Amino acid sequence: MNILSIETSCDETSVAVLKCSGGFKNPRFKVLSNIVLSQIEIHKSFGGVVPNLARREHQKNLVLILTQALKKSGLLKSKIKNQKSKILIKNKKLLNKILIRESELFEKILEFLEKYEKPKIDLIAVTRGPGLEPALWVGVNFARALSKVWQITVLGVNHLEGHIFSVFLKENRENIKYKVLNSKQITNNKFQILNKIKNQKIKFPSLALIVSGGHTELVLMEDWIKYKIIGSTLDDAAGEAFDKSARILGLVYPGGPEISREAEKWKLQILNSKSKINLKSKFLNSKQIQNLEQEIKLPRPMINIKNFNFSFSGLKTAILYLVNDLKKSGKWSKELIPQVAYEFQEAVIDVLILKSLKATEKYNVKTFVLCGGVSANKELRLRFKEKIQEKFGKKINFLMPELKFSGDNAAIIGSAAYSNYLNLKLKRKLSKISFFFKANGNLNF
Ligand code: KG4
Ligand code: ZN
Repeated sequence: MNILSIETSCDETSVAVLKCSGGFKNPRFKVLSNIVLSQIEIHKSFGGVVPNLARREHQKNLVLILTQALKKSGLLKSKIKNQKSKILIKNKKLLNKILIRESELFEKILEFLEKYEKPKIDLIAVTRGPGLEPALWVGVNFARALSKVWQITVLGVNHLEGHIFSVFLKENRENIKYKVLNSKQITNNKFQILNKIKNQKIKFPSLALIVSGGHTELVLMEDWIKYKIIGSTLDDAAGEAFDKSARILGLVYPGGPEISREAEKWKLQILNSKSKINLKSKFLNSKQIQNLEQEIKLPRPMINIKNFNFSFSGLKTAILYLVNDLKKSGKWSKELIPQVAYEFQEAVIDVLILKSLKATEKYNVKTFVLCGGVSANKELRLRFKEKIQEKFGKKINFLMPELKFSGDNAAIIGSAAYSNYLNLKLKRKLSKISFFFKANGNLNF
């Protein structure tokens, strides 16, 4: 089946088309298109996402992104000229009612519907929460409008579920140009590809760590679509901590990638100080590194507490004090940013991994899923994989999304919609899908 999905929960306007197959227990997806328009440049000067600006931008761009997504997937068909119908008055009235708060979107959607035919889509999926409510409503009303005119079912999807299902998505391999490899590389490469496919299967119980800008959740899954939260953040989410700490260090929004880049610089310094090859001017020697390490230490919040909850706001405050103290004693300089970023990243990674490993052990987990925007962090990915393998070996299947699908995009919403739709179908509850579902900024499992 073909699913058209829409994501507008935060500052990405995205529409995707997925070809889904394989059924409930072996979902397979071909990403026909996944267009993502980021609003980062617009929100950057405010140091974070401004909900009403996000809402305005979604309204402005959704029809354009929809057109591109349908075009790329080969499903966009213009109406024949002399059949270019004026959209029925009845439909126009309905659309006006649905998009009463999105007048700009109403005009654009009318133009689109007059120009193009109904595409070969079996289901429309849209994020209904969690996220910024004004932004969510634009996507929900847009999806509803399309659903009414095209007479296609619309399903509201939990954004967090989308992050979990992101691990099943593969970039369309047809679009990747292959290099010529020698025979040894081919064997290795084949092995890697096979390994990847084999690893995509999820076994239950499974545990997902969702780390994003708004969430840090450890979610236990006893079966498909059966979720139980066993740990959450008590204050800031991991991504939020990255963003806020970056701001203290004078880095731009979003702070995650910035901190990660700065931390990488310091890691390089450490590696170089340890290697005997290059100790010249640019790099510090191991004594200098040791001295700095003693001074720049951050806490690992709640690491020894028995439950699986997290807390990251103290870490941000600790950075603030650290920088202020260094400034007062005249020791602060921009050169220290990579090191503070590194220590901050280490603190977050240490806590996330330790708690995840403990929970994995306690619940006899067979598949571990690392997902959400922060899962794009290179060091976090590396260390998680290493630690899980070290502790559980082949007993555990470790899954994480391809980088392209780790942040917010509509393809992840489509993938979660497929399993939810099949679940309702199996239980003969398709008729219960309500057209009138609401956007909910605080939606949880
Ligand atoms: O999942 P996501 O795209 O949006 C939400 O659902 O919140 O996550 C966005 C978060 C931001 O806080 C961003 O700073 C963080 O993910 N992020 C990263 C990295 N890339 C994005 N955090 C750490 N390292 C990264 N490389
Ligand atoms: Zn997200």
